[in-house]
Amino acid sequence: MRLVALISLSISLLTGCALHNYGDDQFQLRMAAHGKDIMWVPTRIDTATQMLALAQVKSGDIVFDLGSGDGVIPIQAAKRYGVRAVGIEYNPDLVALSKRNAIRENVQNLVTFKQGDIFVEDFSSATVLTLFLGESLNLKLMPTILKMKPGTRVVSNTFRMESWIPDQEVSVRSSETTVGTLNETIYLWIVPANIDGTWEFTGLPSLDKTAIRFIQKKQFFDGTINTSGKRSIAFEDGRIRGDAIQFDFEVNGKKYSFRGQISGAQIRGVLNGDSKLPVVAKRL
Ligand SMILES: C[S@@+](CC[C@H](N)C(=O)[O-])C[C@H]1O[C@@H](n2cnc3c(N)ncnc32)[C@H](O)[C@@H]1O
Repeated sequence: MRLVALISLSISLLTGCALHNYGDDQFQLRMAAHGKDIMWVPTRIDTATQMLALAQVKSGDIVFDLGSGDGVIPIQAAKRYGVRAVGIEYNPDLVALSKRNAIRENVQNLVTFKQGDIFVEDFSSATVLTLFLGESLNLKLMPTILKMKPGTRVVSNTFRMESWIPDQEVSVRSSETTVGTLNETIYLWIVPANIDGTWEFTGLPSLDKTAIRFIQKKQFFDGTINTSGKRSIAFEDGRIRGDAIQFDFEVNGKKYSFRGQISGAQIRGVLNGDSKLPVVAKRL
């Protein structure tokens, strides 16, 4: 289904090439049939700007586009938000085109285009990562992405990442193609901090010092509260958004909600939104 989406998107873009005029007098879309792992199919400018808006790009961000084609996403990031942006692209002709495009848009001081393989180059300094690569390439990148700094925003045009449920998705446009209506969706993931394991919590009601075992699945987790000898308390549906953590639990029939921040091996927060009920935890 997704492959059909990419093929029909490619056909509609390639046949509409003259209309959209991707490329310049030195290099055009029709010349770039082969990328390394996927061919060049450009993201439209309006979709690129919606991807950057979904990532909530702000001053100080560093945007990386993996497989950057003609550079549309890094160039729009620099143009609209004044941030630094980097494109990694395998095809040297596209790297050269991107550099010419950056000069035309007068953002050459903010953008860098690097010829290289996205599976070799380092993009760990990105605070925003953009992708238009296909689901299997997204999936291949996923283990590296999950090790990036918590809070890194990842936005993908059209393609998901299988088992990693997006934090948000937005339908940006639908268009008529030779194989029917193509709905274009963009997806956002926020790299979650890693909390999997056992933590010692201080400040929980009628439990005080207690161990909680978190079982994490990407941005979701379940937990078990060890109540020293008594029956342990299980809870579900905990959420992590970057460094922010939240979970709800019940002790002696009373409901509590915890909201806090993860900072390496420490978690700090409050119960029920009450600053007089502080809770801290350290990783065991
Ligand atoms: C579908 S296009 C997307 C281009 C651009 N990101 C955009 O959204 O307009 C994918 C791009 O990835 C490049 N590419 C494919 N495999 C690559 C690899 N292993 N390393 C770097 N670039 C690659 C292709 O040459 C192509 O330009």
